Formats: sequence, structure tokens, C-alpha cells
Amino acid sequence: MLEDRIRNSSLQDKVVTPAEAAAFIKDGMTIGMSGFTRAGDAKAVPVAMAAQAKDTPFKITLLTGASLGHDVDKILTEAGVLARRMPFQVDRTLRAAINRGEVMFIDQHLSETVEQLRSNQIGPVDYAVIEAIAINEDGGVIPTTSIGNSASFAILAKKVIVEINLSHSLALEGLHDVYIPTKRPSRDPIPVVSCESRIGTTYIPIPPEKIAAIVITEQSDSASLIEPADSETSAIAGHLIHFFESEVEKGRLDLSLNPLQAGIGTIANAVLTGLVDSPFHHLRMYSEVLQDSTFDLMDAGKLSFASASSITLSQACGERVFGNFDRYKDKLVLRPQEISNHPEVIRRLGIIGINTALEFDIYGNVNSTHVAGTHMMNGIGGSGDFARNAFLSVFVTKSVAKNGAISSVVPMVPHVDHTEHDVDILVTEHGLADLRGLAPRERASVIIENCAHPDYRPQLRDYFARACERGGQTPHILEEAISWYALKEKTGTMLKS
Ligand code: COA
Repeated sequence: MLEDRIRNSSLQDKVVTPAEAAAFIKDGMTIGMSGFTRAGDAKAVPVAMAAQAKDTPFKITLLTGASLGHDVDKILTEAGVLARRMPFQVDRTLRAAINRGEVMFIDQHLSETVEQLRSNQIGPVDYAVIEAIAINEDGGVIPTTSIGNSASFAILAKKVIVEINLSHSLALEGLHDVYIPTKRPSRDPIPVVSCESRIGTTYIPIPPEKIAAIVITEQSDSASLIEPADSETSAIAGHLIHFFESEVEKGRLDLSLNPLQAGIGTIANAVLTGLVDSPFHHLRMYSEVLQDSTFDLMDAGKLSFASASSITLSQACGERVFGNFDRYKDKLVLRPQEISNHPEVIRRLGIIGINTALEFDIYGNVNSTHVAGTHMMNGIGGSGDFARNAFLSVFVTKSVAKNGAISSVVPMVPHVDHTEHDVDILVTEHGLADLRGLAPRERASVIIENCAHPDYRPQLRDYFARACERGGQTPHILEEAISWYALKEKTGTMLKS
């Protein structure tokens, strides 16, 4: 059976146990691991590393594509293995360690990590640990359900450990399109001219002698954690669909829209699912992660093609998709995240980017990462890659959090991930604010009246009116602008009594 999976006979004797592979990893090393939004992550070696750290403590810098599944970040955090972590995470235990200042977290645009590695601005990577369905005759590594940063990690690392995961079908072969941009400053254009473009190889090209060890695993990917749509996320989807319809009426879009990108999480997934019952058809996605909604749209005959860097599904949807993969395979391509999220390509294809905010302010600045301005939630992920370069940059959020104690529309966000210059459309369950062509003072009224929760509108209107008395292009009362967070700390709510 393993001949199918390790096709280069010189590599057959590289198969070792996870503990033997983990023993290569030493204190102070930089490790690049596969894994993007819980898909295609290395599963056995990191757990063996954590076990070894209990006997012989060591610390590493861990780079991945994005978030990991199977509690790997939790296990590594609890074992004290993580000194530094980049570029994204979604784990509660790691998040707490980051916010205690114990793990140094570098929150980075997902398209940038391997550019910095390639130009020796960070790194070097000592070992890449990459999950694969197989290694081909030439030593090429065929990834599983994500590519993320795996290709560049493997190409740039000193040595590579491959986890061959038998739970992934060999039918995934051919899904991937590995393209590495040429050297700067005289880089060739990246030749992606449509969602469907295939410009690279179906495997990660590395010489066989670079492979230090091979581990065999059988554990499937962690299921996604998204919640089903609720009345608020459905209302957000409804507002956005209505907006797209009016853009079609005005001749700015046609019924197939422009290629769609949707960020991680429950809200973005629900918004895409809402398109199942819309008049749009022949939709395409140029995104970074494909969630259940992608396959709901394909099954409904609405979505004709999807390009991304990973596939992250619920248990039921995973069984449906990977159990009938031939039905979907010719409508899918997975790319390295620097290509799925590349500013050049996003601008060329005219992407409609739909990402989720924690909060936004009355002028359109968006905070996606820092709770109350200080505490890391997950990270910026790819939202900035898309927002700055999109044809239409949309941010969605519920108008309140924590049962209404927090307004997601505030006078001034205490941390800015997406500036007012990168945001076109804001949507909550109460309505949509179209900020295009509006000056800050015009935006404030539209955002307060269309997006804020009715309970918070009076105090937002009051703030804005008093700020305008002080003047300015972007009026503020600086000593009061972020006082709502202190009010919440003191009284348990941002609502003024
Ligand atoms: N202040 C404090 N907490 C807030 C908040 C606010 N203004 N708004 C939401 N939250 C909390 C929610 O209460 C919830 O907390 P819980 O986990 O304790 O229940 C949590 O944030 C997640 O919110 P939810 O409403 O369930 O939305 P989500 O699952 O869609 O996630 C983000 C929202 C913003 C956290 C998530 O989309 C994200 O990390 N985005 C940044 C990265 C990104 O956009 N990537 C896109 C390309 S990968």
C-alpha cells in the first residue's frame, strides 16, 4: 500500500515513528508547519514534540499557514514549546498565553510570511513539517486539504519531515496548483487571469534527499467550528444580497457578480449560504478558505468554480464532499496562500471581499483583531490582503456582542486593522452602509443610522454632534473617543444610563 504513497523507492526507509521525527527538532529552531484553517495540518509530529518537551523542555518559533486543528496550538502551548508564533491562530489556550505576554505572536497579513522568509527578513526555517497524501517519484510532496505556506516552507527549509496521512484519499491528487513567484525586484507578473487559471505544478517540488523523515498518520482533519445561520446572520446576508441586486440594476455588476472571497467564521459562512436563495448564478470564488457554504452553493447550481488555499468543512459536509470528490474536483483548485491572497491577483480579478469585523467606528475604521484594543482574538488573517485590494471591500458584524453589553459600532476603534480608506461597505443585521464616495462626516450618519443597534444610536448621535462642534475632517472628542471601553469595564455595559 505504501508504494502508492511513497513512490520514490529511495525514500521507503525514511519512515519513522512520530517520536523519532520529533527528536530532530531542537531548542531555538524555527519550524514551518503545514495547516491552514484547521485543514491539512501536521498532526502527529507536533504532539510528539509536546510529549518530548515534558522531559526535556525546549522552545521554538512556529510558523504555519494559518490556524491548526486537533488542539495542536493548545497542546504545544501547554507543553511550553512556543516561544514565538506567526502568522495566525484561533486557539483559546494560545490566545490566553499571547495575552499574558508568554508567547510572542506576530500577527501578519497571510500573503506576506513567505515573502519575508524568501528574502531572509525572517527565518531561516530549520525543519518544515508537511502533511501530504503522497510523495511522487521525484520526491515531490502532494499536499492534502490545504497548501497554505507549505510549498515555500518545504522549498526554503533546511530539511523536511513529511506526514503521509492515509485518511485523505489519493483522489485529492491534481487538486493543487503550486506556483512560486520569481525573484524581486524584477518579478514576472503572476499569470493568474481567472479563478480557474492553473499556473504551476500539482505537487511541491523538492529534491528527495531533503526529506529527513516520513511519518504515517491516519487522523482526519478537525471539523470546522462554524455555527449554523441565525436570524441576525441571515439578516446580514439579506442586506448584502439586496445591495448586490441594486448594483446589478445600476449596471455595475452582472448576475454572476465578481469573484467572491469570504473570510473565516460563522458570519461570513452564513452570508455566502444566503446566496443559495438569490437570483445570482455562475458565481465564482477566489478566496483563501472554502467552508460549507461553498459546497452548498455548488450543490444548488449557483457556484461554478472555487479557488482557495484550504478546504475546512463540518463533519457532515466533509463526508458529502470528500465522499464524492469526483463530483467537485474539476470545479476546485488549491493554491499557496501567497497566490490565493496576492494583492496583484486580487486587484486584477476584481474580487468582492467579505470579511468579519469585531467592531467598526462611525468613520469606517475596522478592528478585526484586538478585543477592547488590547487583547488578541485571532489575528488579521487574510482580511487585509483582500480588503485593501478588492473591487468591493465589505465588512460584516453583528451590531452588538455579549448580549448587548458591547456595541460593535463605536466612536473610535481602539485598534485599526482596516483603515477607512480600505472599507467600502459595512453591514450589520440592522442594515448596510455604502461608504463609497462619502466624506467622513457623511459616513458617520449613514453608519449610525443604518448599522448601529437602535439602543446605541442616541449616544452615537450625541457623540458625533458634539465632536462636530470641535471641527475637523474627522471630528472627535479625543478624551472621550475610546471611553466606552472603560465604561464597560466599570459598569458591565457600554450603554450609558
Ligand atoms: N468586542 C468583544 N468581543 C466581540 C466583539 C466585540 N466588538 N464582537 C464579537 N466578539 C466576540 C463574540 O462574542 C465571540 O466570542 P466567543 O467566542 O466568546 O463567543 C467571538 O468574538 C466571535 O464572534 P462571532 O460573532 O461568533 O463571529 P465569528 O465567528 O464570525 O468571528 C471574528 C468574528 C472577527 C473574530 C473572526 O472573523 C476573525 O478572527 N476575523 C479576523 C480574521 C479574518 O478576517 N480573516 C479573514 C480571512 S481568514
